[in-house]
Amino acid sequence: MGTSLARSVALFTLLLCLLLPSHGHGKLSTKFYAKSCPSVAAIVRSVMEQAVAKEPRMGASIIRLFFHDCFVNGCDASILLDDTSTFTGEKNAGANTNSVRGYEVIDAIKTQVEAACKGTVSCADIVALASRDAVDLLGGPTWNVQLGRKDSRAASQSAANANLPGPGSGAASLVAAFAAKGLSARDMTALSGAHTVGRARCLFFRGRIYTDQNVNASFAAARQQTCPQSGGDGNLAPFDDQTPDAFDNAYYTNLMAQRGLLHSDQELFNGGPQDALVRKYSGNARMFATDFAKAMVKMGGLAPAAGTPTEVRFNCRKVN
Ligand code: HEM
Repeated sequence: MGTSLARSVALFTLLLCLLLPSHGHGKLSTKFYAKSCPSVAAIVRSVMEQAVAKEPRMGASIIRLFFHDCFVNGCDASILLDDTSTFTGEKNAGANTNSVRGYEVIDAIKTQVEAACKGTVSCADIVALASRDAVDLLGGPTWNVQLGRKDSRAASQSAANANLPGPGSGAASLVAAFAAKGLSARDMTALSGAHTVGRARCLFFRGRIYTDQNVNASFAAARQQTCPQSGGDGNLAPFDDQTPDAFDNAYYTNLMAQRGLLHSDQELFNGGPQDALVRKYSGNARMFATDFAKAMVKMGGLAPAAGTPTEVRFNCRKVN
């Protein structure tokens, strides 16, 4: 009797292990490359310093690249794979095409990392480290990056189209898009604070400045100067026009003044459940910095589905 119970328990445990999705990355650790590539953090940092010194917006672009990687089948560098005649990746998904930037910076880092430690550091980890440095270099918080991700041998344009939230989204759909990734409404509100740096194209905020009701009139008028009702789709405007390249908590102060650039931004302060947190972040830069860093670590833990074939790519743009 005892033996058959033990057998059943063992069988049940085995079945459970087979059925539950395994963590596609295995266990991440801040020390993952301590022996195999001790110089990786310094290399990433120096390339990022040069890139941000040359063009501060590049810091913002790298932060966004990380978000768009992690939200589509986990942080697996799938976004970096180039399309070929036989392969369609994520670069030309609606939210990415002519919009996501920074691929060359990741290439430059990878080239130096490969020279120092061949075939060791994943492109996914490089993006995670580079985005931490980007936030820090723009004056935001810093954190220890969990490492040990692998690069996927696959990418999905349809998943990118389905999973990345759009600028016309309402509050409930933003909460749902993040919940689908295991991120809370608080994580979503903190992560959205990244819109304190960077630029958006007219195409994405035209509706906001011409048709939204909850918009500051002088802000709308100023944005309309370079974003006409027709044409000028690619014209850029800063998310935060006072301190466009500083990673501060101005995003939330702007929302409270109805100066959010995207419709989706202003949805976080529009009489809904996120209002209270927006007020707190606006009044407490430290609280925002702490929550943002925590949420970046959490988002950085998103792993590809179990069974996704992975590797450490030699060239971030193509599978080995
Ligand atoms: C909450 C849902 C979000 C929506 C709907 C959204 C949407 C957008 C849109 C439409 C743009 C402008 C793209 C263009 O004009 O080409 C943009 C830019 C940007 N996004 Fe988001 N985003 C969201 C969340 C996030 C998150 C979570 C992060 C990072 C943690 C992030 C970081 C950025 C940055 C830094 C830029 C500026 C990039 C640059 O200047 O190159 N966004 N986002």
